[in-house]
Amino acid sequence: MIATADTDFARAVVEGLSQHPRVIPARYFYDRRGSELFEAITRLPEYYLTRTEVALLRQHGPDIARLTGKDRVLVEFGSGSSAKTPLLLGPVNPIAYVPIDISADYLFDAAEGLAAMHPGLAVLPLAGDFTASPALPAAVADAPKLGFFPGSTIGNMSHRAAVQLLGAFRETLGEEACLVIGIDTRKDPRLIEAAYNDAAGTTAAFNLNLLHRINRELDGTIPVFAFEHRALWNDSLGRIEMHLVAREAVRFKAAGHSFHLQAGESIHTENSYKYTLQEARLLARAAGWEPLNVWTDPDGLFALHVWAAEPNRIET
Ligand code: SAH
Ligand code: AVI
Repeated sequence: MIATADTDFARAVVEGLSQHPRVIPARYFYDRRGSELFEAITRLPEYYLTRTEVALLRQHGPDIARLTGKDRVLVEFGSGSSAKTPLLLGPVNPIAYVPIDISADYLFDAAEGLAAMHPGLAVLPLAGDFTASPALPAAVADAPKLGFFPGSTIGNMSHRAAVQLLGAFRETLGEEACLVIGIDTRKDPRLIEAAYNDAAGTTAAFNLNLLHRINRELDGTIPVFAFEHRALWNDSLGRIEMHLVAREAVRFKAAGHSFHLQAGESIHTENSYKYTLQEARLLARAAGWEPLNVWTDPDGLFALHVWAAEPNRIET
């Protein structure tokens, strides 16, 4: 492990639930159950993001290889089940694959499965928080890197945090790096709200699992049934927000602390920012990346960007 997840989780929960408005950072969704529920979300008819990005990767894998060249080390941030990775492996033929994810058990299972399917490929999983700038394995230090950040996970950061994170990726991946990044686009809010309020209730279960996780791991006594999932488009900030709203006044303990929420109070659990193509290019430049190309589906639902590391400028 490259981070102490348990103590980080306890600290984040106590700090976040003591604030007004109350908040828990989205990275804590992903214990094993959370990762499984996210995987179920990717198959929902309303969740257009995954199938659209998969189609773009299938169509443009060879174009990506032409832009970036082959024989790099593929470094994937927030790799989850690594389900999209095989679509890049064929075209870019990496010399090694480094998946990085905070959901450790899930990461190791996915890495094992991928290694079995691709004998001869060195698979070197790294469990931990990618915002903490984890060091890449020494064995791949000198090779040129291809970063892969799919799924619009960048949308789960504030604009400031996104620039900081992409700048840190630029440092981690080095001078000759390229980055393939999937970013969800701004579109009719009705489509976005449907994707985060699915009819089967899978996104609700994903959101509520955070409370179950607190009960499981932090000796919590949260009456989960007293909370409901809510997802709302915030037009002025260009993001869909997820909340857990108390249906009634609730009292509970977690990580040794007591909390009291009034009826109607919410815990803000996730933001998912959406970017126009122009905003995504600005994001790239602000973080030291040069946009090389972008592809979207015919309906403009999702965008697959390829960026190259700008050479380090020497300040005078
Ligand atoms: N890349 C996959 C999964 C996206 S879900 C896809 O495109 O479908 C987001 C993934 O990022 C999860 O697997 C989650 O565990 C991981 N993740 C979220 N925040 C993280 C962080 N700060 N550090 C490392 N992994 C993180
Ligand atoms: C991982 N991340 C980009 C997903 C998203 O769409 O923001 C997580 C998710 N939240 C609700 N549904 C899916």
